[in-house]
Amino acid sequence: MYNFLLQFILEITRENAQSFISFLPKYSIWKHVVQKGDVVVDATCGNGYDTLAMVNMVADESCTGHVYSMDIQEIALQNTACSLDKSLDPHKKEMVELFATCHSKMEEVVPKGLTVRLVAFNLGYLPGGDKTVITKSETTLMGMKAASRILASGGLISMLVYVDHPDHEFFDEHWVRLDECLMVFREEYEMVEGFASGLAVNEWICCKLQMLNRPLAPILFLLCKR
Ligand SMILES: C[S@@+](CC[C@H](N)C(=O)[O-])C[C@H]1O[C@@H](n2cnc3c(N)ncnc32)[C@H](O)[C@@H]1O
Repeated sequence: MYNFLLQFILEITRENAQSFISFLPKYSIWKHVVQKGDVVVDATCGNGYDTLAMVNMVADESCTGHVYSMDIQEIALQNTACSLDKSLDPHKKEMVELFATCHSKMEEVVPKGLTVRLVAFNLGYLPGGDKTVITKSETTLMGMKAASRILASGGLISMLVYVDHPDHEFFDEHWVRLDECLMVFREEYEMVEGFASGLAVNEWICCKLQMLNRPLAPILFLLCKR
């Protein structure tokens, strides 16, 4: 845990401001946990960036690793499939399975008994998609509980949580009010923090990484199963 946090801090000092905000350095943390041949879960596949990063982490020469990716929006699954088509050879592509389902139901798509090393959530809305479709704390909580059950010892739940919506202008043009959206984000953030804080200390190590001088940047929660 401490080794990969140190690596993470070194990594973000090398990243530019944009990836600082979008927390791309989370991949350097995942790489400390995920091994070739592992089974991992992308609980919110969106445009497929995280799924692609995951498949490259688990792929070995015999293509034994596996990525289970899900999203509730058909367009997100199409975007992910398109990104995989462009970037992966057919063998690697076969290592990914996409599911049109809510992450609260991940136990229905990940076969029982597998050693799942990483479950990643990137909350909020689909960039470039419908900004009114956002993750909700009730189903996110169910997803986190499911993730905590399927995760192997030594595995990681990675949660990127937003506290601000980057497109304030959008709310002037649509029926959704900014303060309502921010309230939903805040509720979800507090739920994630509450869930992580309540996990048994002898079974879990939980922490959050927050940019103190960028208060509106997303916050990364790391829940490591001992
Ligand atoms: C910030 S995006 C994810 C970005 C993605 N990880 C990537 O690398 O491009 C959040 C995604 O969560 C999806 N989502 C919202 N509620 C969900 C749920 N209950 N189960 C699964 N996906 C959900 C949205 O449709 C959206 O595509």
